Amino acid sequence: MTDQPPDELVALRDRLTAETRITVLTGAGISAASGIPTFRGGQDSLWQNHRPEELATPAAFNRDPELVWRWYDWRRGLIAQAEPNAAHRTLAHLQERCQVQIVTQNVDGLHDRAGSRNVLEFHGSIWRVRCLSCGREETDERVPIPILPRCAQCHGLLRPGVVWFGESIAPEILDASVDAARHCQVFVVIGTSGAVYPAAGLATVARESGARTLEFNLAPSEISSQMDIFVPGSAAETLPWLID
Ligand code: APR
Repeated sequence: MTDQPPDELVALRDRLTAETRITVLTGAGISAASGIPTFRGGQDSLWQNHRPEELATPAAFNRDPELVWRWYDWRRGLIAQAEPNAAHRTLAHLQERCQVQIVTQNVDGLHDRAGSRNVLEFHGSIWRVRCLSCGREETDERVPIPILPRCAQCHGLLRPGVVWFGESIAPEILDASVDAARHCQVFVVIGTSGAVYPAAGLATVARESGARTLEFNLAPSEISSQMDIFVPGSAAETLPWLID
């Protein structure tokens, strides 16, 4: 990475006003500097040699709910220890200057903890659980969580309240996210491989609707070709350039 913001980023930053509508799509890379491993590519992105596609599916849970819960329990433990980093805080500051809507693929809740107000949790929350028998959903912040966790109401098996591969995004979250991509002037992509849809498709919606697009990532992603500006480096170091 460079230690100076690219000129185009400075020019864009200087044109931001209270009326500017910014939609931000975040992925695991924004939380990497908080000590939470990403899913793909990084040295510590694997968990006991399992790929996310092998753990985060309804079929994996049906086959081996204990294994899947142990993976979530490990991640809940890491997240409980983690703090928002400078990138999360930058987005919280940005909302004082512009109209910011965050769409996050992350389930860690760090945007909320950093003080961001408008956050759509596209893939749910790791702190939510849902009963497979009675459908009751609630917040559950136990660390560690008993394995296997049971519903307090009907004793059915609980599952994580997140969206797995092959499952649909909650319609109201999807609609609001597409709307935010369609109606923004600036679309910012931070720390995502752009490999998972429909989230990655939001960049296309924004671009085709006329937004300026910019991306912050350690390395080019699968959607970098759709970006007007690419800022290489760790988001915790580069994103503050948006407000400094
Ligand atoms: N700063 C910026 N970008 C980073 C950093 C960092 N410090 N560290 C890693 N990255 C980038 C990587 O280069 C990569 O492009 O973050 C991205 C992480 O990609 P993934 O691990 O694939 O995470 P994400 O895109 O959020 O995954 C999407 O897949 O497993 C599912 O549901 C899960 O929401 C997740 C979805």
